[in-house]
Amino acid sequence: MVQVFRLAYVHFGSQNPEALLQYYQDVIGLTVTHRDAQHAYVSTSIDHHNIVVSEAPESGLIGFGLQLSPGISVAEAAQTLNANGIATSVKADAFQGIPELAEFMDMDGYVVHLFSEMEVAAPGFNSRGIRPNKVGHLSLRVNDAKKSVEFYKQFGFFNTDWIEDFFGFMTCNRDHHVLNFATSDYKAMHHLALELRDYSHLVSAMDHLGSHNIPILWGPSRHGAGHNIATYHRDPDGNMIELFTDADVFIPELGIFEPRPWHEHFPQKPRVWGTDECITRWGTSFEQSLV
Ligand SMILES: [Fe+2]
Repeated sequence: MVQVFRLAYVHFGSQNPEALLQYYQDVIGLTVTHRDAQHAYVSTSIDHHNIVVSEAPESGLIGFGLQLSPGISVAEAAQTLNANGIATSVKADAFQGIPELAEFMDMDGYVVHLFSEMEVAAPGFNSRGIRPNKVGHLSLRVNDAKKSVEFYKQFGFFNTDWIEDFFGFMTCNRDHHVLNFATSDYKAMHHLALELRDYSHLVSAMDHLGSHNIPILWGPSRHGAGHNIATYHRDPDGNMIELFTDADVFIPELGIFEPRPWHEHFPQKPRVWGTDECITRWGTSFEQSLV
């Protein structure tokens, strides 16, 4: 098993990287740790990078990096994937701060990196901006969510919930979801979610977005699957960004989520949700186009 334990970073291509970097620094409150001719590396607090930005002919997600659990090397991971028919190459110094990574393309064309070690740049938390705890989860539009869910199980991901049969949630740790997959007729990032500390942090983040004239597209409201209190807006490239707090905590040993007063079931187990009951538990209106 090529077991991973976290989503470490996402890689954006951008037609206007300067505007995107300004947003991630001034609005989101992240820190640029390194820039070279190809890439700008941005950190939430301790990692060398959690977001990488490259100039590209089209703006949007290029790929993402997953960190391997202790006990499996990059070479072993690549060997296993190649043996399973997934063309994987090992690259040295492809990204700053990561001495070695295994790279493959998934069935939808997202570039996936697997790595063991990342330099601890540790810029700390920025003195301005929203300053999220971490990159919480990445949601991808894919050709067939059921196939993507099955594919990512080989990396140790567990399928925590579904919205009907078109939106699958997966975790590789105790977060309700780390990756999720929405069946779509086109390939693109659905949203990138940044975890905030608590409700008051979410409110101050909304004020901060308002001060930058960035409209909130939906929320805040509590979702069904994951029970996170979420809001959505767009970055300068149009990538949808979720700010959330209070997401469910999975207990893999028991196959349930830590109990919370707002849960519908006791114990709350992975389940299939209807779309309307899952989008909001509070009845907050939203743009259908966001789904
Ligand atoms: Fe989300």
